[in-house]
Amino acid sequence: MPSGYLERLNETSNLIKKNNQIAQKILDHSLAFYKIPLPDLLHFQSAHKSDQRPIGDHTSVVQSLQHFVRDWSTDGAYERESTFVQILSTLSTIFPEADLRARQKILVPGAGLGRLAYEISALGFTTIANEYSFYMSMAHRWVLSLADHDKGGVQQHTYYPFLNWWSHQRESRNVLRGVTFPEVHPSSEALKRYTLLEGDFTKLFLDDRERGSYDAVVTLFSIDTARNIVEYLESIHAVLKIGGTWVNLGPLLYGTAPWVEPSLEEILQLTQRLGFELLPTDGHFGTDSFSDQVLEWRGKVRGCLAGYNWDKESLNRNAYEAQFWVARKV
Ligand SMILES: C[S@@+](CC[C@H](N)C(=O)[O-])C[C@H]1O[C@@H](n2cnc3c(N)ncnc32)[C@H](O)[C@@H]1O
Repeated sequence: MPSGYLERLNETSNLIKKNNQIAQKILDHSLAFYKIPLPDLLHFQSAHKSDQRPIGDHTSVVQSLQHFVRDWSTDGAYERESTFVQILSTLSTIFPEADLRARQKILVPGAGLGRLAYEISALGFTTIANEYSFYMSMAHRWVLSLADHDKGGVQQHTYYPFLNWWSHQRESRNVLRGVTFPEVHPSSEALKRYTLLEGDFTKLFLDDRERGSYDAVVTLFSIDTARNIVEYLESIHAVLKIGGTWVNLGPLLYGTAPWVEPSLEEILQLTQRLGFELLPTDGHFGTDSFSDQVLEWRGKVRGCLAGYNWDKESLNRNAYEAQFWVARKV
């Protein structure tokens, strides 16, 4: 055994207990928010103990909590800088008058832990974040609840996101690093314009009140996680007003049991067929995804290397050539 290995295991075990305290805080906050008595949860848990996919799926919990780094810590700033800035500056260009932005309704499906949606509301827009993983939504609601508006500050916590991943480590202590979050104090004004709606994006926004009611839809690393991307694109089209804008940035990493796995070209064709017009993109983000040989899409889609839940200290690089486009519903 290398020297220090057992100590590292012991320390890991202690830090797992600290992570568990965060998970417990999230659970307590969620039980109070959703008004679920603890005995009801325990009863539900024991009734489902023998299910194939046990309640409290460890991987889903770990993945959700890892998003504290990407969304809410200074360690995740470099991931946000490469993508959020492009989206936020696009929205600011489309809706330049800051005073009128509260009247613009922006929907962010697949919002994860909500940082991008929060930044959109901080720009002045009325923002609806949507998420169907309850692991994500529970952590999302909790992190936003940490804003202490009376004291004008925020309660910070430390999470140990790297304990579960011992591969690709140069230095032994890397896995023991803690990440403190949230790094910003969410403003009460921005939170007044902010709503999180839990549920499947393709089902939740079907009624007449929602259809045709949004000025913009923003998808960041999310269209490819849909089981049925066609239905997802149809939903984006349905919720937008005529003249409304869809801003997309993300890879094409088809997720769990996808029904279809279209290429970028096929997605763009579908987008047009649904009734979107692709707008010329500005030159700030990455490079043109198509050469002069593909005139139809030239100047309308750009690709840029973007990290995702990437541990900068590790020997592994998890990044995508994320694709960016802006489309208008005609
Ligand atoms: C790869 S994550 C990206 C999260 C966030 N946008 C980010 O950039 O960190 C994709 C998210 O989309 C959510 N999602 C997938 N399909 C969805 C659907 N039909 N409705 C709502 N959320 C969905 C997943 O639960 C997941 O949190």
